[in-house]
Amino acid sequence: MSFHLTAEQKMVGLMARDFAKKEIEPFASKWEKEETFPLPAVKKMGTLGLLGMMVPTEYGGSGAGAVSYCLALQEIAYACASTAVTMSVANLSTEPLLKFGNQEQKEKYLTRLASGEMLGCFALTEPSAGSDPGGLQIKAEDKGDHYLVNGTKIFITHGGYADLVNLIARTGPDKGNKDLSAFIVEKGTPGFSVGAKEDKLGLRASNTVELIFEDCKIPKENLVGRLGQGFKIAMTALDSGRIGIASQALGIARACMNEAVRYAKERKQFGRLISSFQAIQWMIADMATGIEAAGLLVLSAADLKDQGLPFTREASMAKLFASELANRVAYNALQIHGGYGYTKEFKIERLARDARATTIYEGTSEVQRIVIARDVLKD
Ligand code: CAA
Repeated sequence: MSFHLTAEQKMVGLMARDFAKKEIEPFASKWEKEETFPLPAVKKMGTLGLLGMMVPTEYGGSGAGAVSYCLALQEIAYACASTAVTMSVANLSTEPLLKFGNQEQKEKYLTRLASGEMLGCFALTEPSAGSDPGGLQIKAEDKGDHYLVNGTKIFITHGGYADLVNLIARTGPDKGNKDLSAFIVEKGTPGFSVGAKEDKLGLRASNTVELIFEDCKIPKENLVGRLGQGFKIAMTALDSGRIGIASQALGIARACMNEAVRYAKERKQFGRLISSFQAIQWMIADMATGIEAAGLLVLSAADLKDQGLPFTREASMAKLFASELANRVAYNALQIHGGYGYTKEFKIERLARDARATTIYEGTSEVQRIVIARDVLKD
């Protein structure tokens, strides 16, 4: 890939690869089969600086930046897509505080999030508000010295293990996206509990749960940014999150291609290795080309972010392209495995299930197309 990486960025990628190879990949299949959330490995990622990669060193982060983050996340995803979404959401959960938090909030939480002492999650989605978060219903009522929160969030990545929730709730009468605000809720706050866990198609080592708020009192100082700024805060965090999911998809795509190539070079049919058939070669050529293109889109969006330039459109392009690619690559890699690929004996079965989520969460492919088209048409 001819994107000029610095020595430091390369080193971060290699460090993540080494860690993933030793401490994630050997266990990924077992974690997924047993639905084990790998908390010790996640904590270790915190000590390696992988959970606060955008957090500056003054707040205890690695300050490695978005390009390094994408390289590292790809390596984790190559080993285990479930662990990668944990890493992605943990990093995303630092964004509201980084961009909109006050000094006190930054000092109180960022170091703990970046080190893995606290695991952060992002609570936006509700049963009737997915692609359209402007329709969310959870309420945070101003009660003078605190906010009183009532309602339910769903599909919250590692919500059952999170120590800090970035909560977006309605704080005024507007029924759209104007009266939404962002809050920090700490685990253990009375009235806050974890509800049902989802039984998902893939990413089964990632914990996806419902969060329930019943007369939950949130201190006034836990408002992040200004009242009514919640939609903008959520969208800003999602811009960064989408680069992360694009990187996750890229890591999955690379793993799928690797499995396909390995299998094609071992499997014989009609007296020949199947890698010698043009039908298989063309599939592999398309996989490799798509992976190269997706890699460049991801790095170019991340590079814009590192330069402090707008990157909303590019993040959506990277997420759209990489997630759809991951699904195409997974489909064809499984096809190359034939009937064996449809059994749990082969890794491609897990990878194909894991890839599916990437075109859905943090904005479906359809939402990414809305973001891209609006931006293009604005020009
Ligand atoms: N950055 C900053 N501000 C933004 C923004 C961005 N990226 N996008 C929009 N805004 C601002 C707009 O400028 C506008 O501001 P003004 O009112 O001041 O003009 C305001 O927000 C409203 O913008 P839109 O009119 O564009 O809003 P919309 O209601 O039409 O929604 C949308 C647009 C792109 C569809 C958006 O709703 C969206 O992204 N939806 C998908 C939500 C999503 O990704 N959910 C995933 C859940 S989280 C998850 O999956 C996490 C996980 O655990 C893995």
